[in-house]
Amino acid sequence: MADPNLAAAIKAALASVDIPGGGALSGYAGLSEIIVTTSAVAFAIAVAPGMEAAFGPAREAAQAAAATVAPGRKIMVSLTSDKAPPATGQAAAQGRSGPAPKSPVSGVKHIVAVGSGKGGVGKSTVAVNLALALQAEGLRVGMLDADLYGPSIPKLLGLEGKPAVRADGIFIPHDAFGIKAMSIGSMLNPDQAVVWRGPMATSALRQLLRETDWGDLDILVIDLPPGTGDIHISLFQQAEVTGVVIVSTPQELALIDAKKAIDMLRRLNVPLLGLVENMSYFIAPDTGRRYDIFGTGGAETAASSLDMPFLGAIPLVMTIRETSDGGQPVVVSDFAGPEAQAFTTIARRILAGTPALRT
Ligand SMILES: Nc1ncnc2c1ncn2[C@@H]1O[C@H](COP(=O)(O)OP(=O)(O)OP(=O)(O)O)[C@@H](O)[C@H]1O
Ligand SMILES: [Mg+2]
Repeated sequence: MADPNLAAAIKAALASVDIPGGGALSGYAGLSEIIVTTSAVAFAIAVAPGMEAAFGPAREAAQAAAATVAPGRKIMVSLTSDKAPPATGQAAAQGRSGPAPKSPVSGVKHIVAVGSGKGGVGKSTVAVNLALALQAEGLRVGMLDADLYGPSIPKLLGLEGKPAVRADGIFIPHDAFGIKAMSIGSMLNPDQAVVWRGPMATSALRQLLRETDWGDLDILVIDLPPGTGDIHISLFQQAEVTGVVIVSTPQELALIDAKKAIDMLRRLNVPLLGLVENMSYFIAPDTGRRYDIFGTGGAETAASSLDMPFLGAIPLVMTIRETSDGGQPVVVSDFAGPEAQAFTTIARRILAGTPALRT
């Protein structure tokens, strides 16, 4: 049962939590509704891009303050933000080197890319769980990490070691939960910074895509870097992409930042499969009840104003973060749970909207 008195008491306690720039968290516009259930307290703090680290101490202080007021309950305080995309490469955008004609990727029937206007919106999380949900629908699925500057698929899928290489130099992808997965991240040392200059990145992408033995895949899901840069353009110019799924958070939708990426894709004639709203509501761990902390309907309205299908909403829950960090995506670790079901719904809507994906 929600407890409005306790929520108010927690909010009052947040008056003692200072935030960067001055003032108290209790009066901060980015503080979400405070959800109180019999065993848990949950709320989110939305921060401006680049402010995540600065807000770290405030998050911890908020956690401690809430724990004091609501002892015995699990306290979940999330920081959410939309990162700015990295600068895009001019040369590729202007097509200076002249695009080579598109050619199919051996063994791959369809490519579905997952993109976003900004970083940190949960693209990789959605890509991985969507790939697994598509597999659960009976399709043969692969996963390519095209985020060469910040690969996260090895961690999300728990990939270990480098991929094997055949005698002819072709990569043998990792097998993760039945998914064939490739990421530059599993070829680098964990502490190695990834520094590519534009042409190197695009040739690395070409190699990962085309010099991998994908076997026979119905769908290769590609996790794109944020925004629209060299890598996107290189991918869309060299391969036929069946469609792109755009991931956005409610905050980003409010600003319609995703629109820039969508406009770019339209200009490149890449079909849009639809919009996924991530981190959009809480599910109380004890009651399973849903709380729309940022209001409801924003994503559907945004999707229709952007003239694209709304594919579904993913809750903001610790289990998604924990399972992602632990290399056990929620679609595998708790297939029947509400978070995984949200991904199943999205997979089914994508397949219903584009039946060719099953062929
Ligand atoms: N629905 C969710 N609930 C809770 N945490 C989430 C959710 N979705 C993503 N996260 C967490 O948010 C962080 C960012 O997610 P993720 O890495 O998937 O985003 P991204 O858009 O791929 O980021 P980048 O632009 O850096 O590639 C991760 O720590 C992830 O575990
Ligand atoms: Mg990512």
